[in-house]
Formats: sequence, C-alpha cells, structure tokens
Amino acid sequence: MKVVRTIQDMRQLQSELNAYRDMASLVGFVPTLGFLHEGHASLLRRAREECSLVVLSIFVNPLQFGAGEDFDKYPRDPKRDLRIAEKEGVDIVFMPEVSEMYPRPIQTAISVTGMTGLLCGASRPGHFDGVATVVSKLFNIVKPDRAYFGLKDAQQVAVIQKMVEDLNMDVTIVPCPTIREPDGLALSSRNVYLSPEERQEALVIQQALKEAEQLNGEGKAGLHELRDLVIKRISASPLADIDYVEVVSYPSFYTVDQLEKLEPGQLADSQILIAAAVRFGKTRLIDNCILPLRLRT
Ligand code: PAJ
Repeated sequence: MKVVRTIQDMRQLQSELNAYRDMASLVGFVPTLGFLHEGHASLLRRAREECSLVVLSIFVNPLQFGAGEDFDKYPRDPKRDLRIAEKEGVDIVFMPEVSEMYPRPIQTAISVTGMTGLLCGASRPGHFDGVATVVSKLFNIVKPDRAYFGLKDAQQVAVIQKMVEDLNMDVTIVPCPTIREPDGLALSSRNVYLSPEERQEALVIQQALKEAEQLNGEGKAGLHELRDLVIKRISASPLADIDYVEVVSYPSFYTVDQLEKLEPGQLADSQILIAAAVRFGKTRLIDNCILPLRLRT
C-alpha cells in the first residue's frame, strides 16, 4: 500500500500504474474524511471486489464545514486509518494537507442547486457546495472509473450523481447500503461524541424509521402521516432535538407539497426518502430510509 500526500505524487503514481494496467482494468475510489469505521470499510470492500486498483482518500475538507461546526474537533486517527486501509487491501491512500488541496483561496466552486435547498442543504448552508467542489477536485486528481458512496448520506449521493450527470464527468457513482451497529444505530465517525445516555437514546431514529417503513409497507399511510409518525416517535425521546424530518421523492427530491401539485405521469421517481437529522446534546446525527412510493401524498 502506498501513502501519497501530494497531488503531484498522486499523478506520478497513477501514470506509473497505468502503464502496467491492461485496458479493461478499473480504478475504484472511496473518498472519506477519515476516522474510518465499518461503513467506510464496506465501501472499500465493494471497490476491492469490483476494481483492479483501489484508491482511498482521507481529507477533512474545511470547505464543507460551516462556521461553528466541528471542523477543528472532527475526530482524526491517521495511524489507525492506515491499518484499516491496509487490511482492506487498499492500493493507494491519498492523504493531503489542507494547504495541498487549497494552496490559495479558491474562486471556483461547484454548486448543485434545487435538491440542495432541502434537508441537510437547508440546515447546513454551503455544505453541499463544499462537498461537490472537493469531490470534483478529488475526481480530477484520482481519475477513478468508479466512486463508492454510502446511502447513509443519501442526499450527498444524489448531489454527486447530479453533478456527474450535469458536468459529464467520466465516472460511475456506486451507491452502497448503510452499515449499522447490531442495535441499529447507523455507523458514523461522529458517534464517538455521544455520551452513553445519548448513544442509547439515539436508537430512536432508526426505530422511528423502521415503524415508518412498516406503515408504508401496509400501504395505508400518506406521506404526511409517515413524516408525522417519525416526528412523533423521535420527539418522545427527551434527549432528541429534531433538526429536520422530511419525506421527499427519491432521487428527484420533490417535497410532499410539490408532489401534491404534480400531474399523474409527471413523476419518474418510484421511491421515497425519509430523512432525519437529530441533535443529541452537541452531536448531530443523520439517518434515512429509502422505501417504495406507495401513496402519492
Ligand atoms: P465521510 O463522512 O467520511 O464518509 C465517507 C463515505 O462513507 C461517504 O460516502 C459516506 O456516505 C460513507 N459512510 C459513512 N457512514 C456510513 C455507513 N454507516 N454505512 C455506509 N457508508 C457510510 O461523506 C464524506 O465523508 C465527505 O462528505 C466526502 C464525500 C469524503 C467529501 O469530503
């Protein structure tokens, strides 16, 4: 496994490796903020299965953190990350410093509009511009054939897919399922911030989403009712402070109100995304489920 810290070294290594690779071989890429867990490892494994060369990036991207967010205290453990990467069979780890990625203030940014006005895009203004910009920079540096993203961040997947489609980027985005703790909590690098009580209470998000899934499966509830159910269940937890709970069509992100106004046949989506962001103390957790669209509203 090679660890590369500069863009120049990354490009050099890529061209050396390309010389040995046959035409059919694929470069798989997993971008991360580091502090790796089983969720990240699942993406690496999928890339390892499907690609001849696996590149992992570890970069805590300041551009996607808002003022007052946790950029400075975002958990970091590069040594442990490298051990996990090695174990998962990663070929190249790209670990640049902030000064390498942003040597001068940037004056170019990628902004995906529309779907970013909702959910995390609404509660974290500028976040998805920061994500889209760094991911497009990383795509230009790593030049992957396939890039692997987790559906734990379903809106991020949709934003990246739209960017790739709109800008004709030559990369296939592979969405991968959310990995959970045995008790259902979605794995996240931020889970380490939770106190034991908060960690226990945080299970309510997944429980509420499961109930919504069951109700949706029965086909009796409208989309408003699904949203109300999730809000009611999460609010019952004394430590939970809801940032948002939203139901949108997936992957186009039509809101329930917009869906009500659509003519039959106007909607290409056959799924809904129920997404929640909830604070437990100072920690903001997100989770979601993607379900078949049973009733329009
Ligand atoms: P990060 O939060 O480190 O996540 C890196 C990748 O791991 C993302 O695609 C995320 O969806 C996926 N992931 C996180 N938790 C997961 C889980 N429990 N199950 C499955 N996949 C999971 O997302 C980012 O970093 C950044 O925004 C990034 C794309 C790297 C741009 O800076």
